Parts: sequence; C-alpha cells; structure tokens
Amino acid sequence: KTVYVLNGPNLNLLGTREPQVYGSQTLADVEQICAAACTRHGLALVFRQSNHEGALVDWIHEAGRLHAEGKLAGVVLNAAAYTHTSVALLDAVKGTGVPLVELHISNVHARESFRHRSYLAGAARAVMCGFGVQGYALAIAGVAQW
Ligand code: DQA
Repeated sequence: KTVYVLNGPNLNLLGTREPQVYGSQTLADVEQICAAACTRHGLALVFRQSNHEGALVDWIHEAGRLHAEGKLAGVVLNAAAYTHTSVALLDAVKGTGVPLVELHISNVHARESFRHRSYLAGAARAVMCGFGVQGYALAIAGVAQW
C-alpha cells in the first residue's frame, strides 16, 4: 500500500525558516526520513509539497482514488497554515474518506492561539504534533498499523 505525505505552504523553506521552531533539517531531509520509514514498514511513498491550496486538494483526491481501490495506507498531511483556515481541505478529506494523520512539526498548542484551531482535526484519524521532523516517521509507523 501507499502512504501519501503532503506538505503545505512554506514547508519548502524548512531548514532556514524559523529554525528555533522547525529545526534545521530541510524538506529533502524530511523526504529521506519518510522514505526510510516507508522502507521499514513495507509501504510505498508519495511525497509532495505545494504552496497552493488547490494542489493539496487535488492530491487528496488522487489519494482518494487509491483509497477507493484499497491501495492507500493513509495520508499524512502537514497542511501548515491551511490547517487553521481551509474548509476546502476539510471537505476534500471528508469527500474522499481518506484515513488522515494531521501532522505538525511544532507543538501548535504551545504557540499563538490562532494555531490552536484546526479545521482538519475533526476529520483526522490521528493528530501528531511537537515531535519535530521525526514526527513524520512516527506517523508513518502509526499508519502502517492501520
Ligand atoms: C506547522 C504549524 C502551522 O501552524 C504553521 O502555519 C506551519 C507549520 C508545523 O508543522 O508545525 O506552517 O504546520
């Protein structure tokens, strides 16, 4: 089965972006972490990033088609700022029924109050936050058990 790891806006800047919050590893490093976790758990990986909300919607639909064929392990989504704003991403998750992990590198609950609200959490099967980029490996390990 395949796991989709989807990353939203500004995550292409990982490594240089607010390193005190997000650490110094780059998105390429995160992809390697995910690839290693998928190898360990016998999953195929689709790993993508976009700064555009509609691209993320389209990729959830793509994952949804795999889900309908029984070939999807799950979607690990770091929707970044869209977590706190996007009804469209929520509707994409609900509309496709993909099993979702909402993921954040930082502990959003220890940060500004506008980061405490998630449009996605109610439609997520699991939420992972605060483990830094290792959270991606932990989320994939969790998805592998579904
Ligand atoms: C984030 C947390 C969000 O609040 C923020 O907008 C991001 C990254 C995280 O991974 O900690 O861009 O999703």
